[in-house]
Amino acid sequence: MYIVMTIKLINMCIVMYIMKREQLEEFNPWWITKKVDPELALPFKRDIYPEIKKSIGRRFILALVGLRRTGKTTMVYQLISELIKDMINPENILFFSFDDIAFDIDEVIETYKEIHKKEFREEKVYIFMDEIQKCRNWENKIKKYYDLYPKIKFVITGSESLFIRKKTKETLAGRILEYKLYPFNFAEYLRINNIKPEYGTRVKPYFLKYLERGGFPETFSMESEREFREYIRSIVVDKIVYKDMPAIFGIDDPGFLILLMELIAKNPGMYIDYQSLSKQYGKDRRVIKNYLNYLEESFLIRVLINYRRGTTNLRKRKRAYPSDNALIYLYNRKYDDALFGKLVETAIVNAVGSPFFWKNGNEVDIILDEIPIEVKYKGAIKNEDLKGVAEFLKKFKGRKGIVITKNADREVKISRGRIKLIPALKWFMDGASGKGLKHG
Ligand SMILES: Nc1ncnc2c1ncn2[C@@H]1O[C@H](COP(=O)(O)OP(=O)(O)OP(=O)(O)O)[C@@H](O)[C@H]1O
Ligand SMILES: [Mg+2]
Repeated sequence: MYIVMTIKLINMCIVMYIMKREQLEEFNPWWITKKVDPELALPFKRDIYPEIKKSIGRRFILALVGLRRTGKTTMVYQLISELIKDMINPENILFFSFDDIAFDIDEVIETYKEIHKKEFREEKVYIFMDEIQKCRNWENKIKKYYDLYPKIKFVITGSESLFIRKKTKETLAGRILEYKLYPFNFAEYLRINNIKPEYGTRVKPYFLKYLERGGFPETFSMESEREFREYIRSIVVDKIVYKDMPAIFGIDDPGFLILLMELIAKNPGMYIDYQSLSKQYGKDRRVIKNYLNYLEESFLIRVLINYRRGTTNLRKRKRAYPSDNALIYLYNRKYDDALFGKLVETAIVNAVGSPFFWKNGNEVDIILDEIPIEVKYKGAIKNEDLKGVAEFLKKFKGRKGIVITKNADREVKISRGRIKLIPALKWFMDGASGKGLKHG
């Protein structure tokens, strides 16, 4: 009896082992071919790529996080491809994706070690783990290897924030370097379309299309409106709400998440008022708060808080924007002037990437490093349109403000400094050529 059981166990182990070995080999074809398929490592490199490439040489765990379909896995393949071109032995590179397979990190690493007889203390190995947030307790497992084997370089990706639980951040404190990958910015959009980033009529149609459809690379060649909407709905929103989020957060009412997403996409920049939302939808305030937090953690929305200098006041006021204009397109059928202004504002909020707006009687859309930036995408700009920025400069003793316009292109002197009026397209082009404000 005992012997039979032992044999059974050995058999099971062998079967599992063979299965895993094949699985690992499938994920790592370069162990045999010595190169990465160019259909995976696409030739177009994102603006942030050189910086990320540089950090591969450092000891830190490199984390790449961002919204679904923005190019995380592609960038991982690009990095692997370059490592091989830089004469790293392909067998010293392990890639594994946890997106659809629930394997244990230890199993994956130990199986790899077995296959190639790697001694992690002696050899430099590169371990890429895609969608790592799907593994329970991943942070402790990675930390164990990181601390034991200084020669392992980890690169991990996630479609939700990796630090949803505060403990994760504490566990990996001082060990991790995180980059966020966003949908394509306008400069990248022009570059992939082979358009020179020069302010003028030639870029205008691309600007309008970018504002309308946003920055998901797979949609750039889509002509049909229906195909586009179907893609954003099913591949981005539904996948996150019905598959990714429930796996991590335990969502009772995914339909309500969609409803909140739709609300924000129809009212980009809306003020979040938990109490009135709670009343309107008959949901507890905490549920609303949690759900908005889930949307933010999976990068579907961007939440801005009210700017305060040097105080740790409770920042109650918040505004929410969709994280890409494609989401606005999905939920709005009619594009009038007011909505178009919102498209411009949302694109700018996402391009600047600052977490602050300002409201204190008057209002400014974005505060970046104490510079007030207001979006006024309309015909004539009146003095009244500059009021928020002027107020902010007065209150915070600033000297420079920016109002992003449709056409107005001039400077207005005020007692405390100057306000630069700049057309939206020009502002985007300045960013594209590196002259403008930091985009991120
Ligand atoms: N650098 C790029 N150049 C051209 N197209 C790209 C690039 N990066 C991504 N894409 C396009 O976007 C698609 C999605 O990219 P990728 O699978 O890398 O994204 P992801 O962030 O890993 O998505 P998911 O979260 O769903 O795994 C690719 O199949 C490709 O068509
Ligand atoms: Mg991916």
